[in-house]
Amino acid sequence: MPVAAAAPQRRYPGVFIAFEGGDGAGKSTQAAALQQRLQAAGRTVLRTREPGGTPVGEKLRALVLEHGHGSIDPRTEALIFAASRAAHVHQVIRPALERGEVVICDRYMDSSIAYQGAGRGLGLAEVRSLNLWATEAMLPDVTVLLDVDPEQGRHRRTAQDAAEDRLESEPDDFHARIRGAFLELAAADPGHYLVLDAGADRDAITEAVSNRIEELLP
Ligand code: TYD
Repeated sequence: MPVAAAAPQRRYPGVFIAFEGGDGAGKSTQAAALQQRLQAAGRTVLRTREPGGTPVGEKLRALVLEHGHGSIDPRTEALIFAASRAAHVHQVIRPALERGEVVICDRYMDSSIAYQGAGRGLGLAEVRSLNLWATEAMLPDVTVLLDVDPEQGRHRRTAQDAAEDRLESEPDDFHARIRGAFLELAAADPGHYLVLDAGADRDAITEAVSNRIEELLP
């Protein structure tokens, strides 16, 4: 099923930036680098992550990522991520945007659309609708997609940490479907995405992200 057209976006005084990409793309490093730059320029920045970002979200994170909770079917998995996101938007993201802060989120709705929609086969449009409901259609002002080749992503994350979570340990074809879905989402709404090659020089990526974000800031 095709990806639905962009939902109407509500405006807040703050700016909402999401980092997305496959496992091992370097999102956390880039999110931290952007936070540093913006804070050095005097901005108030809230950096957060999904799944997680709230006490209930961190519990849900453990439930869905750790091995050992028995089998979790795809719909349950999608609902757990969506529940964590609903709490995150309600308790953390929206209040910060209302206060006029810059919110940098390490993964957001597109991760569910890609991992549960494409990876688990639930359908991109279906998972998107679920998440629009869960977040009351809270969408990022810009999504930075760090595009990573699944094999390269696997190399990068095993170099950092040998233990893979439930999703990371899925085979390369699962990760290839996720990559395709992220690129499809970006192609369907180019004005809201910055797509960068995750294999490029780290500082060059930081520079490109900062330049794009500067354009959004009041
Ligand atoms: P990740 O950002 O990789 O956390 P960490 O850096 O601590 O490993 O996210 C954990 C995993 O959860 C990752 O494999 C992607 C997956 N995920 C989903 O499947 N759906 C979602 O909605 C989100 C937010 C993450």
